[in-house]
Amino acid sequence: MFEKFTPAKADPILGLSKLFNADPRSDKIDLGVGVYKDDSGNTPIMRAVKKAEARLHNEQTSKVYTSLPGPELFRDAMRDLVLADAVPAERVATLQTPGGTGAIRQVLESVKMINPDCTVWISDPSWPTHLSMATHMGFKTRTYPYFDNKTAAVDTAAMMAAFAELKAGDLLLLHGCCHNPTGANIDMDTWKAITDLVIEKGVMPFVDIAYQGFGDGLDEDAAPLRHMASRVPEMYVAASCSKNFGLYRDRVGIAMLIAKDAATAAVVQGNLATLNRLNYSFAPDHGAALVAIILNDPALRAEWMQELGEMRDTMLTIRQNLADALRQQCNSDRFDFIAEHRGMFSRLGLAPELVDRLRDQHGMYVVGDSRINIAGLAGGRYQPFANAVAQVVSVS
Ligand code: LMR
Repeated sequence: MFEKFTPAKADPILGLSKLFNADPRSDKIDLGVGVYKDDSGNTPIMRAVKKAEARLHNEQTSKVYTSLPGPELFRDAMRDLVLADAVPAERVATLQTPGGTGAIRQVLESVKMINPDCTVWISDPSWPTHLSMATHMGFKTRTYPYFDNKTAAVDTAAMMAAFAELKAGDLLLLHGCCHNPTGANIDMDTWKAITDLVIEKGVMPFVDIAYQGFGDGLDEDAAPLRHMASRVPEMYVAASCSKNFGLYRDRVGIAMLIAKDAATAAVVQGNLATLNRLNYSFAPDHGAALVAIILNDPALRAEWMQELGEMRDTMLTIRQNLADALRQQCNSDRFDFIAEHRGMFSRLGLAPELVDRLRDQHGMYVVGDSRINIAGLAGGRYQPFANAVAQVVSVS
């Protein structure tokens, strides 16, 4: 039977990490997978996380199962972090999940239970797993135009024109902030217009927020989704703690279903717990326990926010430095948009053969669609990268 499997395709992002690790060059630079890096290229454990781990180590007395949907201390704190007071707490059903990817999966699992024939709308481009997971689960999918390659900004007119074809019951997947892979974000006026549209058409919004705090700030990054949540009757949210708590391998995420009223939310809550049971029983506890400790302790929370702010500032500075260096090296404003983008990524708009050349000739590992991880350029690495980009662009 197993001969029926055909060789699996390498993941476009994780496959690049494998190539990078196998490259013997000492001056290689990894701009692939979205993990934060310090000046030495290390992905540090955040200070507040280390302290919370010490506390957990000393105070935890049992590894007995938690609750199926995950401890309330974690879920309530995350609900408040993402939604603040945009919507009454009793309207929000929450589910702890293994990472943000797990939250997306559980959201789609819940859609399967109640609306399996819906079309899932995904931005073109998007994080590749959005489309592959929805397709793998048997959903009809449709992409909507998002990015204007010429301006390196959101193509708002084309996107809104496509949204005219949204139908009642369709699931509209939006990135809450820090769009992956482009770094170009929908402006607030457009978020308001989309909110009006989904209400008018009876479309179900699904906001994936994996980078809260990496763009302009925790509240600033959540403002669009909070606006939407405050107005729509129902909505899905998937949030990740991989990036803003640096808990990548501990797999910490949360799915949130905003229901029209408290009674419906209570029924949804029970179904979410069942979904965890059906798929893997309990989400891993360790990372979520750390998040709960940090968010519920004012001193640790302040320390975490401070470090997150430092990480954000580092990425903003790199953006400006890289844009300036490229302006100088290329003698053009072609890459000025890098300073305007927000979050961990920017899409440079380089042809695939230039991306290959960056890797083969210069040891610069950029995802195939020319997405770069801005944090990979810390420690002055933006300079050799700008040199390499200028070289491949000049001979193209
Ligand atoms: C990325 O886009 O690089 C991250 O979200 C990591 C991943 O799982 O792909």
